[in-house]
Amino acid sequence: MSNDNSSANSAQNPAAKLWGGRFSEATDAFVERFTASVMFDQRMGLEDIQGSLAHAQMLSEVGVLTADEFQQIAGGLNAIAEEIKAGEFPWSVELEDVHMNIESRLTQRIGATGKKLHTGRSRNDQVATDIRLWLRNRIDQIASELTRLQTGLVDLAEQNADTIMPGFTHLQSAQPVTFGHHLLAWNEMLTRDYERLMDCRKRVNRSPLGAAALAGTSYPINRARTAELLGFDAPTENSLDSVSDRDFAIEFCAFSALLMTHLSRASEELVLWTSSQFDFIDLPDRFCTGSSIMPQKKNPDVPELVRGKTGRVNGHLIALLTLMKSQPLAYNKDNQEDKEPLFDAADTVLDCLRAFADMAPALKPKKENMYAAAGKGFSTATDLADYLVRKGVAFRDAHEIVGHSVAFAIEQNCDLAELSLAQLQQFSSAIGEDVFDVLTLEGSVAARDHIGGTAPNQVRAACARARKLLGAR
Ligand code: ARG
Repeated sequence: MSNDNSSANSAQNPAAKLWGGRFSEATDAFVERFTASVMFDQRMGLEDIQGSLAHAQMLSEVGVLTADEFQQIAGGLNAIAEEIKAGEFPWSVELEDVHMNIESRLTQRIGATGKKLHTGRSRNDQVATDIRLWLRNRIDQIASELTRLQTGLVDLAEQNADTIMPGFTHLQSAQPVTFGHHLLAWNEMLTRDYERLMDCRKRVNRSPLGAAALAGTSYPINRARTAELLGFDAPTENSLDSVSDRDFAIEFCAFSALLMTHLSRASEELVLWTSSQFDFIDLPDRFCTGSSIMPQKKNPDVPELVRGKTGRVNGHLIALLTLMKSQPLAYNKDNQEDKEPLFDAADTVLDCLRAFADMAPALKPKKENMYAAAGKGFSTATDLADYLVRKGVAFRDAHEIVGHSVAFAIEQNCDLAELSLAQLQQFSSAIGEDVFDVLTLEGSVAARDHIGGTAPNQVRAACARARKLLGAR
């Protein structure tokens, strides 16, 4: 590896920094570490190479590099990509960030031609490009895990289209619903998350390459070409904006925070449902852990952790918003702080989706327990009121009559359906023998027979619509 730049790694020689020409003393050792980002931005190594390959190819197409120079650069970059994949790349804090590590390695490997790669670009447009490429990859992985999770939920919903459970408001039993309907509520939240993610992807997928440091470059570059080579929809419009704004990363974190909020709500329900107080579902042992002191315990750690990790993702959203809010145009070093929150948000979301997608098909509803719980708490009281309305009683009066009936049933320590016809008729002569049809749980859910309702046939139809949407992704 002989070349004319072999001393590039020496901190003693200020000129050894790629930007060291105007400096007369070496960087303070602490400052070197403080300002470096290679510890975390090396994750974008392959994207950095992808961007450099497109840039170099474009430079050769417009005549800034010769075909031979491009071949050398491409050969060197591809070899470096192999080193990175093999975990053999010698990352160096002295070289500050992923960009200068790779550029300096290139010159080490191919000699002076490597120094031509940075023609017509800056680390400012380079890093903006790398982040977008990295995030686009992550978005696509997240989208596919989201689809896997939703597919599992819809399958489970279909199998439980007529599994009756209590529906809650204020966490009090309100009206019976089907378990399938409840699962489809989760699915709706996730469908909106998916839409938000796809919308965010459109704004991520624009190429800032060519904005250079801030004002563009005097070389005859072809920005549309690099955009095309990198699979971006188009170049970004304004060079100052291109190198500075990280709104696309903020948007991604906003998507992430909402998705995590939804997963957290579902987690909370799983935690409740696996408790011995609810005992609605069985979560297979492989998703749980035990207690080191209480031998009887089986804890729903996976949903608890998903619920807990929501906090850090919300934090990342606030971190990025705050990072951006006071920055004057154009690039500022502040932006180096965008990566760790963004990376962690993406990692956390992907892990949590994976956990949920694995878990969803394995949830085993304890149908008898759900059914028994649905029968408690006078969950068909509204059905009795609606029945009275059909018999000609005004709704407000019906509400009052049912209130009295419920109070009486509480006194008798029984459910509405367990009262005799004579007992019910004390409260309204409009009540007849057919009242017992509406007081059953099956009658109650079947009656909510419209789009968005909990009737089993509506749940099946909603599953079919959801499947169609998933299939069209
Ligand atoms: N490591 C830097 C970042 O993450 C790269 C861009 C540095 N540009 C500069 N002019 N210092 O933002």
